[in-house]
Amino acid sequence: MNDVWQRHQFPILQKCTYLNSCSLGALSNRSEAYLREFLDRWHTMGASAWYEHWLQRVEDLRARVARLHGAAPAEMALMPSTSVALSTVAEAVPDRGRTRVVCTELDFPTLVYQWLVRPEIELVVLPSRDGVSIDPEQFADAVDERTLFLATSHVFFATGFVQDLGVLSEIAQRAGAYCLIDGYHGAGQVELDLPASGVDFYTSGPLKWLLGGPGLAYLYVRDELVTTLTSRLTSWFAHRRQFEFDVTAFEPRDDARRFEMGTPALPTVHTSLGGQEIVDEVGMARIAARNRSLTDRLVQRAQAAGMELSLPPADKRSAIVMVRHPDPAGAVRFLAQHDVIVDHRPGHVRVSPHFYNHEDDVDRFVDVLAQYPG
Ligand SMILES: Cc1ncc(COP(=O)(O)O)c(C=O)c1O
Repeated sequence: MNDVWQRHQFPILQKCTYLNSCSLGALSNRSEAYLREFLDRWHTMGASAWYEHWLQRVEDLRARVARLHGAAPAEMALMPSTSVALSTVAEAVPDRGRTRVVCTELDFPTLVYQWLVRPEIELVVLPSRDGVSIDPEQFADAVDERTLFLATSHVFFATGFVQDLGVLSEIAQRAGAYCLIDGYHGAGQVELDLPASGVDFYTSGPLKWLLGGPGLAYLYVRDELVTTLTSRLTSWFAHRRQFEFDVTAFEPRDDARRFEMGTPALPTVHTSLGGQEIVDEVGMARIAARNRSLTDRLVQRAQAAGMELSLPPADKRSAIVMVRHPDPAGAVRFLAQHDVIVDHRPGHVRVSPHFYNHEDDVDRFVDVLAQYPG
């Protein structure tokens, strides 16, 4: 079968028009098979499956995820969630008398909350002038010798605007600040070479564009930083001799596993391996080009139908498309009644095609939304 986009792997695509990968990537047969293997081994082997199979599965996933980020496995930690990854970073760096953190109003709240709960932090939240983007000059003006972190998103979750990692990391570096990036919508959408980008920390996860489901997140820590940092949030998985159960001293591992926070969610390790294999087989260059083509089509069709979009400039766009709407929740319900699955954010219907979508899916979304009477 000539199915370069592996549509046959995703049963949901046969059942409905699924255009909501920004909220939850589609489940593949491959992920389900890995999960079944996990459950079978649990049934038949019990705890010995840990040593004979599951620890290796964790390392298989780490190796694939590291490659996706352009990084080495020693720079990747598997975390329970982005929030935990961000807290771990916040508790790992020496403050050197710096108290300022610069975020933006377009960042996902869990990034901003990390600093709101720390009374010692002077938080600067940059406003968006157009509601879609942030001008890098705003970061350059706000990040100074008082700044501990420039902390922002790679791709904004509610506008799809793609920020330039090289520019952000240079601004941070010039001021001696750390560059911390929430890359949840970057990984799986944008080709990554994190060591070349210069960022210090980058968080991502399998939930959305990497098709692995909930229960894990990924933390990249730049090679030169790994062994210089020990987090005040820690666990036995971070200890270099984990299975010696020594309570007399904490000796962190000499790679990014020193940031890990306890037993990883093994079901998600398995489903994530299935999703990651598919992403790797299709390839990030092709995924990025395919998503660009589906997004261009969506934009053209929606505009031709008279819909208004909150749209980044063409070279900063991702596959998160925001259609302005007076009743987004009602529109999303109406679309769902017609088997078109999308999501809403304030003032907008959010549509997010991924490589496995077909041009017909995009057209159908526009046709059905155009019929909404509300
Ligand atoms: C940009 C972004 N960051 C983080 C998260 C999730 O954070 P966590 O893994 O802590 O639930 C999401 C969405 O779920 C997101 O869109």
